[in-house]
Amino acid sequence: MLEAEPGSVEERLLGREEEVRRILGYIESPRAYRVLVLAGPVGSGRTTILRYVLSHVKGYHKFHLDASPAAKPLGLPGVEEYLNCFADVNGCVDRVVRESMSIADHRPQAKLLVTLDGLACVRGPYECIVPHLVRGLARFVEAYSDRVRVIVSIDDQEAVLELGKIAEYIDVLVVDGLNREAAAGLARREAEKAGVRLDDQTINEVVAATGGLPYHIVTLIHEYRGDVQRWMSDVWEKLRWKLVLVASELGVSVKDVAKAILDLVDKPLSAVPRQSYLLLRWALRNNIVYLAKGTVLKLQLPVYAGILRSIAYG
Ligand SMILES: Nc1ncnc2c1ncn2[C@@H]1O[C@H](COP(=O)(O)OP(=O)(O)OP(=O)(O)O)[C@@H](O)[C@H]1O
Ligand SMILES: [Mg+2]
Repeated sequence: MLEAEPGSVEERLLGREEEVRRILGYIESPRAYRVLVLAGPVGSGRTTILRYVLSHVKGYHKFHLDASPAAKPLGLPGVEEYLNCFADVNGCVDRVVRESMSIADHRPQAKLLVTLDGLACVRGPYECIVPHLVRGLARFVEAYSDRVRVIVSIDDQEAVLELGKIAEYIDVLVVDGLNREAAAGLARREAEKAGVRLDDQTINEVVAATGGLPYHIVTLIHEYRGDVQRWMSDVWEKLRWKLVLVASELGVSVKDVAKAILDLVDKPLSAVPRQSYLLLRWALRNNIVYLAKGTVLKLQLPVYAGILRSIAYG
């Protein structure tokens, strides 16, 4: 099922053996009745994982929909892509389901893999659209359980929270930061590409500060030339603005917001008191925290802990 391709998609994927194993397990299982949901902090590299899987799985009709505002084509042979879906995600999902269903109906032997990247709640006076979409997709999988597989990547922590409503229709795979070794490997590789010289100590600092999150590693090296201090001070500034925003929404002080968020950290969702739910939503929506394995709340970046403590108690 998994074939190496000429080119370098494969060499670009570091770590992620476990994630790829789980995803292939889902795709290759004789029957499936659920949608596989990829969740996790911003920049954990879900798009890269989807790209890897789409380019390596053989014998499937492959469809890929990118619902993010800055959708970019994957440009993989044999993958039908749906871009420009941001303005009308519903319509786009409808189209990809109709088109793939027509193949499934006309070719009883055909196997189909549908991936959706960048799904998010539409903000506004409406309910979050994501549970409704994912439930529809789960029905599609159920109806063709021997040969249709759907993988959805969620870029929006509030949407992940909302998916709790349809837990019986999904399996969730949380994609966290890379392990130390893979993260250091990525940092070294990117430093070489960028022509930046980094000693081992700096590589370790990059890995620790970013929690091994690929997007942040790449940014720190290419945009900040490996200057961890300068990156940190921008992260600090951005987080402070997020807290100001949340504080003004809730009508409390920035200090109190920082304290309340520190209170949420490392707690399972089920232990969050009702009266903290509004704060929780704002913290999720602004990518300050995310739902980790076992729906435990974690900070999006490890360096947030120190920043929050210093704002709360400094
Ligand atoms: N496992 C990996 N090994 C090597 N490079 C990776 C890996 N994961 C991500 N990258 C690189 O890191 C950068 C960011 O990855 P990607 O675009 O997948 O993240 P993202 O889509 O921003 O993350 P997410 O969708 O999870 O928020 C890209 O340059 C990608 O090539
Ligand atoms: Mg992505």
